[in-house]
Order: sequence, then structure tokens, then C-alpha cells
Amino acid sequence: MPPPTRPGLTVIDHPLIRHKVALLRDARTSSRDFKQLVSEIAALMTYEVTRDLLTEPIEVVTPLETTKGEQIARKIALVPILRAGLGMVEGIVQLIPNARVGHIGLYRDHKTLQPVSYYFKVPTPAADHRFFMLDPMLATGGSAIAAANELKQAGARDISFICLVAAPAGVAAFTAAHADIPVYAAAYDRELNSLGYILPGLGDAGDRLFGTK
Ligand code: PRP
Ligand code: URA
Repeated sequence: MPPPTRPGLTVIDHPLIRHKVALLRDARTSSRDFKQLVSEIAALMTYEVTRDLLTEPIEVVTPLETTKGEQIARKIALVPILRAGLGMVEGIVQLIPNARVGHIGLYRDHKTLQPVSYYFKVPTPAADHRFFMLDPMLATGGSAIAAANELKQAGARDISFICLVAAPAGVAAFTAAHADIPVYAAAYDRELNSLGYILPGLGDAGDRLFGTK
């Protein structure tokens, strides 16, 4: 079955990703395995998400002669939304070792579901970087919208958002607020429950990553 589509959203469809997302959802998956899966899925998604990165020509001296090669032409910044976004950094950095890493601290108030901001630090000048905002969960969209607002206020102009599981309400809210930011997801789920959790989802990503519950 082809992945569901929605304007602004790309669901990255690959057997390895589908396999690993199923393991991630499983309530029996340990915190250690959960961490590894989040990292691996983020790495697999990176191949597709970076497809449009600009390269520039370089000369490479092989052991035999000089030839032409290419290198990534843009500074890249990964910006995990704390806490759960941290789990996606390592897998991507393994593929893009020169990437700089910023941090946006936000948590969702359990009663109001509104994002509460507590930390912001990203590479400067922001306008020089291609930003990849990272968070496993796009639920109501409040956290991702607030994070993108903060990034834009800091001067970022070129932003993509990589999440693992997206809910319809979150995608609709995020793309309405930030139509210029493409959203990539590994899975597009059915709905939110009354507490704002994604169904079928995978539970609380931060707690499962860090073993806090
Ligand atoms: C989770 C998740 C997102 C947010 C998504 O973080 O990692 O940041 O909820 O929900 P939303 O789309 O409705 O805003 P949480 O607030 O639980 O913080 P944590 O990562 O520190 O646990
Ligand atoms: N945050 C999570 O960690 N999980 C959800 O299902 C929704 C928001």
C-alpha cells in the first residue's frame, strides 16, 4: 500500500523503516533498543531528506591521479527539540559528521498541551545554515510550531522538519503555520486521544528513550 500523502508531508516509505517503526511501537521494546531504533530510523530517513542538498565540485587526488569529486556546499545544523529529539541526533551525525547541533528546549504542559519554552541555542549566523529540526512526535503540532517560530526569529530561512510519527492534526496545524517547512515522517498515524497522545503511536517518546517512566 502506498504511504498516505498530504500537502507538505512526505512519508518515507521503506521496508527497513516500516520494520523498525513496528519494533518502536511495541510496548515490550526496552529503553536501550528504543534508543537504538530511533537513531537508526533517523539515519535511514536522512538519505531521502537530504536528497536535494547542493554540492560543489572539488578536485580529489587518488593514489593514481587527480579526479573530480563533490562536497556538500551548505552548512548543516541539526536541531533536536528536547528531550526526545536528542535520540535522533546520533544516527544523522554518523552520516553528516560535520553537522552542527543546536538545541531547542520545549515541553508540552500536560494539562493545556501548550508548549513551554526553556532553552534555545542554535549555530550562527542562522541564515547561513540548512536546518533540520528533529522530534520523534508531531502530535497537536504545538511544540514543532513553537520551535520553528523560534528558529525563524533567530534568522533561519531554510528549515526541514524530520519526525518519526505524525498525527493528522499536527501535520495540518504545522503546515498551516509553516507552509515553507517540509515535514518528513516515518509513519502517519490515525488520530490523537483525549490526552493528546498519538494513536496507535508509540507512547511517550521522551520517557521511553530515557527510561523515565
Ligand atoms: C513530546 C514530543 C514533542 C511533543 C509533541 O515532548 O517529543 O516535543 O511532545 O507534542 P505536540 O505536537 O502536541 O506539541 P514532551 O512535551 O513530552 O517533552 P519531553 O520530550 O521533554 O518528554
Ligand atoms: N508526545 C509523545 O511523546 N507521544 C505522543 O503520542 C504525543 C506527544
